[in-house]
Amino acid sequence: MRCSILSAGLLALTAAAAPSIQRSARLDTRNPASGGQVAFQFPLPNGFPNVAAGSATLKEIEQAAHGTLPNGALPSKISDTSATVWSLIATNELFEVAYFSSLVKNITDWVPGYEVGSPAAREIVLGALKAVVAQEELHALGANGILAAAGRTTIQPCKYVFPVNNFDDALAFASTFTDVVLGTLQSALSSFGLDGDAGFLGLVGSVIGQEGEQNGFYRALSPHIKIPSALPFLTASAGPFALSALQQLVIVPGSCPSKLDIPTFGALTIETKNVGPHTETISFSLVDKEVDIATVNKWNLVYINQQNKPVVEKLQGAK
Ligand SMILES: *[C@@H]1O[C@H](CO)[C@@H](O)[C@H](O)[C@H]1NC(C)=O
Repeated sequence: MRCSILSAGLLALTAAAAPSIQRSARLDTRNPASGGQVAFQFPLPNGFPNVAAGSATLKEIEQAAHGTLPNGALPSKISDTSATVWSLIATNELFEVAYFSSLVKNITDWVPGYEVGSPAAREIVLGALKAVVAQEELHALGANGILAAAGRTTIQPCKYVFPVNNFDDALAFASTFTDVVLGTLQSALSSFGLDGDAGFLGLVGSVIGQEGEQNGFYRALSPHIKIPSALPFLTASAGPFALSALQQLVIVPGSCPSKLDIPTFGALTIETKNVGPHTETISFSLVDKEVDIATVNKWNLVYINQQNKPVVEKLQGAK
């Protein structure tokens, strides 16, 4: 059951992670700017996302990332679909930079709830996460660099709030949104392959592996000590799910200067408590003022799990 939910993309972020995440994420689903949390805002102290090619700052980021941006020539033309996909990737990578920067800062500043065990563990965790911040900066700069080289509009960051306030929940949330990313990049590959930009396949494959390495680390650090590799075939997702999840859970409403040509959905909330690995009826709720009940009764709920055929269930007793 849990895997089915995970796969539903936007459901993943509201329900699949540890119960503690579920609580805070759901709170934020309803009002992301709630809780008096100060929104995260760019630029970073190093000026990111404004980093010029060939600058000393870029060199510093590459050193912190343990590696470089690809240095080959970029295409001067990409398809419209590819431009949309790179826009979404840039949007997500900018969020990830924000998230992991905030996490590193919390650990560094000994924010209550973010005290990491022994000095040795603290060093390992901070070392890994500082590299992740720089690696995500390069992912974002790379995506925007591709858009710029092809004469497309680059993506500017939004303001963000994060539905977590302690280290364990922060890692669980990181693992959950990385699951969504790992599913969504599968559909990015299909788009690039089918829309004439197959030159990006290797590049995106290298990022999928990189994000998978990160996820293994977050899973292994979980208090539940999850095995690093979750499944033989990771669950699929799609751009609209990924963007919906970002909008519902972390983006401060109205704070994004860039508009993406991707549909988004409202939150689907799981009302049944303690859903377990057995057959049961599960209740969901959603807020949509424009749709009537007769229409809702014709809807299906679709579970996506791994690379299997989606499971399609009719809704029952909508009210
Ligand atoms: C950092 O700590 C603040 C204060 O508790 C919290 O609001 C924010 O969500 C934390 N960030 C992360 C990524 O955990």
